[in-house]
Amino acid sequence: MENILEGVNISKSFPIKGFLGKTKGTVSAVHDVSFSLKEQATLGIVGESGCGKSTLARLIMRLIQTDEGKVNYRGENILNLTGSKLQDVRKKIQMVFQNPYSSINPKLSIIDNVAFSLWENGVPKEEARKKALYYLDAVGLPKSYALRFPSSLSGGQRQRVAIARALVLEPEIVIADEAVSALDKSVQAQVLKLFQELKKEFSLSLIFISHDLNVVEYMSDEVMVMYLGKVVEKGPAVQIYSNPHHPYTQALFNSIPSMEVGESTLNNSPINGELPSPMNPPSGCRFRTRCPLVTEKCAGDLPPNVEISPGHTAACVLYERVGNEKVLS
Ligand SMILES: Nc1ncnc2c1ncn2[C@@H]1O[C@H](COP(=O)(O)OP(=O)(O)OP(=O)(O)O)[C@@H](O)[C@H]1O
Ligand SMILES: [Mg+2]
Repeated sequence: MENILEGVNISKSFPIKGFLGKTKGTVSAVHDVSFSLKEQATLGIVGESGCGKSTLARLIMRLIQTDEGKVNYRGENILNLTGSKLQDVRKKIQMVFQNPYSSINPKLSIIDNVAFSLWENGVPKEEARKKALYYLDAVGLPKSYALRFPSSLSGGQRQRVAIARALVLEPEIVIADEAVSALDKSVQAQVLKLFQELKKEFSLSLIFISHDLNVVEYMSDEVMVMYLGKVVEKGPAVQIYSNPHHPYTQALFNSIPSMEVGESTLNNSPINGELPSPMNPPSGCRFRTRCPLVTEKCAGDLPPNVEISPGHTAACVLYERVGNEKVLS
C-alpha cells in the first residue's frame, strides 16, 4: 500500500513566558519526527503525557505552525498550501478529540452539529441535514436522536456525534487524539470497534493517539513510540509489541498490567526517575537519564535510527551497526 501521509523531520518548540511576559525559554515539544501512514492502515502513537503526541497531531492539521519539516499528503507538502488547495486538503484530514463534552456545540441539535461543517462549505441546509442523518446512522445513533441536544446524550453517544461530524466531510484520514480516554471501559470497547468498522466502510486511514498501550495494540498496524518529543521506536505493531528494542519501549511494555483495553494508562509514569523538563532535555538520547542500559556514548551525539528488521527502527546506540555487525553494548 502507498503512503497517504508522511511527516518528514518535523520540529516544533513553544516559547515559555515568565514574569511580565518575558520569554524564559522554549519547550522542545516535537523534535525531528518522521513518520508514514499507509493508505487504509492505522498508525498508533503512544508515549507518556507531554511527549508531543497532540502537538504532532495539531501540526499535521495545521492548527499550529511547524518550525521545520514537511507533511506530505499524497506526495505533496501541505504545509505550503494556501487558499482553495488548503481548504480541499483540510476536508481530507479530520480530527476527533478526547473530550466529547467540549468538542461538540451544546447549542446545536445533534443533526445540526454534524451538518454544520457542510454548511460552512456551502452545502445547502437540507442537503447537509440529509447527509448528516446518513452519518449519524453510520455511527450507530438512532434517527430519533437527530433533534436532541448534546446535553441529553451520554459520553459515548457524544463521541459518536463527534465521529459523525469528522466523517461528514468525507475525509481520507482521521486523527483520533485520545478519542476514547474519557469514556468508561465498556463504552471504550464499543467506540474502538466502531472505529474499526468505519475504517473499513469508508476506506479510512487512521492515526490513533493514546496513552493506553492496549488500545494502541488493538487498533494499530504500525506503532510509533515517542519520548520527550522524539520518536524512539517505530514499526509494525506486531513487531513492536512482541519484540520491543528501545529500552524505553521495553520499560513501557513491562509495565502493562493486563491485556484488557483501558487497563494500562501512562498517566502515572511506570519508568524510574523523573521525566526531565522539556525546556532542558538531556543531550544525546533524551531517555538516557532514566535508561537502565545507559552507556557513556548516550550523552554524545543523537542516537542513530537503527533498522532492527524491515520497517522496524529503534533510535538507540545499543543497536548501532559497525559494518554489518550490531553492537550490543
Ligand atoms: N501551546 C503550548 N505552549 C507551550 N507549551 C506547550 C504548548 N502545547 C504543548 N506544549 C508543551 O509541549 C509538550 C508536548 O505536549 P503535548 O500536549 O503535545 O503532549 P501529549 O503527548 O499530547 O501529552 P498528553 O498525553 O498529556 O496529551 C509538553 O511539554 C507541553 O507542555
Ligand atoms: Mg495530548
